[in-house]
Amino acid sequence: MIFFSKNCLDLGAPNVEMKKFLDGESYVRIPALPQIATEQEVTLFHRAYPEQDSSLIQLFLMLKTLKRQTDNISAVIPYLPYARQDKMVLEGEAKSSEYVCNLLAECGLCELISFDVHFLKQKGTYRYGNLRIKNISLDEGLVKYFSKKCINPLIISPDKGASYMVSDKGGIAMEKKRKAYAQSELAIRRVSMMKTDADMKGRDVIIIDDMIAGGGTMIKAVELCRKKGAKRIFCGATHGLFLKDCAKKIIGAGAQEVISSNSIPSEYSKINLMDSIRGLL
Ligand code: R5P
Repeated sequence: MIFFSKNCLDLGAPNVEMKKFLDGESYVRIPALPQIATEQEVTLFHRAYPEQDSSLIQLFLMLKTLKRQTDNISAVIPYLPYARQDKMVLEGEAKSSEYVCNLLAECGLCELISFDVHFLKQKGTYRYGNLRIKNISLDEGLVKYFSKKCINPLIISPDKGASYMVSDKGGIAMEKKRKAYAQSELAIRRVSMMKTDADMKGRDVIIIDDMIAGGGTMIKAVELCRKKGAKRIFCGATHGLFLKDCAKKIIGAGAQEVISSNSIPSEYSKINLMDSIRGLL
């Protein structure tokens, strides 16, 4: 049985009721709950971005409700929030990625199906904390979209973390360093350095990453490719958060086109994640 939450209505007809109480807290109801047979397999589609915190609470509530009928629950969460804080750099930091995954497991989730999960940095099925995660990459779709527009393109990831998205296509990874956290209320680490030895003079370049958030990484990568004489530069990421309208800044830096998947729907969503999971459902 498949359930779609209200924020996935572009992926399937919603069959979970979601409302807000007057104080903003989440109300969730699964009307078909009594029709779920004991231990029946169910798959829940839910977006946990934007409004990550309340979307995660909704997810916890849906999972606990489904768990009253079955232990056989998987969830398709197109963009997994809190995936970036997967290392403890400073003393006393929260390892958010693991804690969120453990909470999902505690709520009854057997398998999380997601796309280019930031901390996994490889495709396949893995155990992370107490949770099993099937990590599907949208790299093929992103590269295919641009390949039609390019001649013999050079495929690049802007850092080692996303190298798994390009290495099996003969692509290369740039080297990237970030600064330490700035003294501010915002937990931001700006890109301090990016370099590559790749010869791209006169060539079309496709830059692929797992996500574009504030755009700092992609802007630096585009600037570097331009400096090294690339002909045309195309940028694609699985998850387009595009904070502070940064897609326009990436174009302004010299990119021909910027795209993402519909894990976070926007005008830049050109790759449909459903094409990569239809066989699984
Ligand atoms: C970093 O390790 C990721 O692969 C992305 O490059 C990064 O999260 C993108 O963030 P931003 O767009 O803010 O540079």
